[in-house]
Amino acid sequence: MSVALVAGSANPALADSVSRELGLPLTQRVIERFPDTELHVELLESVRGKDVYILQPTAPPVNESLVELALLADASRRAGAASLTAVVPYFAYARQDRRAKGRESVAARLVADLIATSGVQKVIAVDLHTSTLEGFFPTPIEHLSAVPLLAAALRHYAESAAVIVAPDLGAVKLAERYAGLMGLPMAVVHKMRVSPEAVKVAGVVGDVAGRTPVIVDDMISTGGTIEAAVQSVLAAGSRPEPVVAASHLLLVGRCVERLGDLGLRRLVGANTLPVSIDIGLHPEVVDLGPLLAEAIRRLSCDQSLAEMAWRG
Ligand code: R5P
Repeated sequence: MSVALVAGSANPALADSVSRELGLPLTQRVIERFPDTELHVELLESVRGKDVYILQPTAPPVNESLVELALLADASRRAGAASLTAVVPYFAYARQDRRAKGRESVAARLVADLIATSGVQKVIAVDLHTSTLEGFFPTPIEHLSAVPLLAAALRHYAESAAVIVAPDLGAVKLAERYAGLMGLPMAVVHKMRVSPEAVKVAGVVGDVAGRTPVIVDDMISTGGTIEAAVQSVLAAGSRPEPVVAASHLLLVGRCVERLGDLGLRRLVGANTLPVSIDIGLHPEVVDLGPLLAEAIRRLSCDQSLAEMAWRG
């Protein structure tokens, strides 16, 4: 196959993993910054006539990662790529998918447009905040999921007396998937967000008493949602030492401290974003390199992704 794998700088470990799985070295490139902070990218190898896959989650700092992705796409397009696919395991701005108060931007739509405008013809995404975001992209999108892999990892920590907990109403469908895969009951925390860092809880729906809570979300950002969920399930009589899982471990702001104070049995996540091993929480991080490599392999041979073993 005539494939080139170009990695941005947002998640080098994941890029190495995908490259290893595919047995395909990363295309040499330069990513540098001009004195005025502008980014500059250059591909050091030819991609002419190749199916180019650009791996770049829009990881924090999200605007830097996004512009890097767009510049790498533009450079690949101008260098004669036969096709251009952006592999964006974490899609930032996803939570800004509607105008909640008026006079706001629908940033998720704009960002999807920006990615397409840079020359990207197809996007591979993982566990988008909502599946309706698929319709925001003018390009075709392959929506993969880390949930089956995370559910498999969670089996080590969740015994039969466990309960899957959705930490807010938006996570109900996700929790249903985990509950189905793991054969566990589920409960829902009724959360309301009062600011970007703070949430308050109105109650828990479902039976958590005497059970080990396994709280699942698509992303953990400041940790406010998980903290509120843990406090509410404990108040509702759950066992201590909750287990927490998410596809995207942003862990920004006071998140590590917050989670550190919750007495978690385990934090389980995927490596859509770089996770520092020094954070002290000792998360179990599931490598998505094999999943993304298989998707790339299949797409480059026009094979269906529907039969992928790990597809959610
Ligand atoms: C919200 O709808 C998301 O699914 C997450 O629950 C939320 O974004 C997590 O943010 P934080 O960790 O800052 O509460």
